Amino acid sequence: MTDSAEKFTRQTLMDVQPLTSHLFTLRTTRDRGFRFRAGQFARLGVAKADGNTVWRAYSMVSSPFDEFLEFFSIVVPDGEFTSELSRLKPDDSLLVDRQAFGYLTLDRFVDGRDLWLLSTGTGVAPFLSILQDFEVWERFERITLVYSVREAKELAYQALIDGLGQRDYLAEHAHKFRFIATVTREQHPGALNGRITTLLENGELERAAGVTLTPEHSRVMLCGNPQMIDDTRKLLKARGLQLSLSRRPGQVAVENYW
Ligand SMILES: Cc1cc2nc3c(=O)[nH]c(=O)nc-3n(C[C@H](O)[C@H](O)[C@H](O)COP(=O)(O)OP(=O)(O)OC[C@H]3O[C@@H](n4cnc5c(N)ncnc54)[C@H](O)[C@@H]3O)c2cc1C
Ligand SMILES: NC(=O)c1ccc[n+]([C@@H]2O[C@H](COP(=O)([O-])OP(=O)(O)OC[C@H]3O[C@@H](n4cnc5c(N)ncnc54)[C@H](OP(=O)(O)O)[C@@H]3O)[C@@H](O)[C@H]2O)c1
Repeated sequence: MTDSAEKFTRQTLMDVQPLTSHLFTLRTTRDRGFRFRAGQFARLGVAKADGNTVWRAYSMVSSPFDEFLEFFSIVVPDGEFTSELSRLKPDDSLLVDRQAFGYLTLDRFVDGRDLWLLSTGTGVAPFLSILQDFEVWERFERITLVYSVREAKELAYQALIDGLGQRDYLAEHAHKFRFIATVTREQHPGALNGRITTLLENGELERAAGVTLTPEHSRVMLCGNPQMIDDTRKLLKARGLQLSLSRRPGQVAVENYW
């Protein structure tokens, strides 16, 4: 991407919080002109030692109404972008493309009653933005967030998730929400133990949510690991849930992170 002054703004890091050795959250200032829909992503740029800028897509965790931007990042060993990003400290600058992108947004669905948000790892990010926006609570009767990680210490934003129902503007809808964590490589109290795909196949996910997946009522968003997305899409297709396209509205919307 060209480093054109027209295309990006320079924002300041306000806060960086490590979660584990390979996961961290960061908050930056937000340009007043930067607009996005909950579920979209921005392209972030960091300067490398050789003077070039490296760009990567990052979903916003924060809501479109927050004055700041929040992101949740992996650190890929020797990753071109995350090696640089993870070195940044408060007051350092981060480039943010002026335009937001992406179709993992609620307008992918024309109808639906029960919303499923299925994520692995940092793929939870766009769902946290969607859940902090009012629209989802008005549109859906039941909302299930599923968050799959290898180890329990990788479960980020637990206070934010637990606190959604206490927010003034969401309190009347809090009964609609079910959060299901699944931890795949250890047992953890309060979490399921198994991949999203396994839990779908054996019915455990629907039992835990108290909701049955049906093409008529369910709308499903998938985000994170591309193999999880492929495998889950196949399972959903077998149940009659299809990818939602502009020419053919359906029940499933996806975002692959790599
Ligand atoms: C639309 C979109 C939104 C994204 N949003 C986020 C986000 O909110 N947070 C985030 O951390 N990343 C996100 N990513 C991934 C991000 O763009 C980069 O791939 C990531 O920052 C790693 O960059 P890198 O140059 O260090 O490694 P890369 O060379 O980009 O990736 C190297 C390898 O690391 C693994 N990898 C990359 N990203 C992840 C990840 N997020 N979780 C687990 N393994 C990964 C894959 O195996 C990949 O092949 C998103 C990607 C897309 C396409
Ligand atoms: N340095 C460290 O300490 C450390 C620690 C953890 C990860 N990492 C590295 O970070 C990278 C990303 O790891 P991550 O844990 O964030 O992402 P991930 O490998 O995508 O795993 C996240 C969750 O997705 C599940 N999953 C993976 N493939 C799936 C599929 N096909 N269907 C359904 N579920 C699936 C995983 O289950 P499973 O557990 O069953 O795979 C896990 O619960 C990896 O390259 C890893 O090596 C490093």
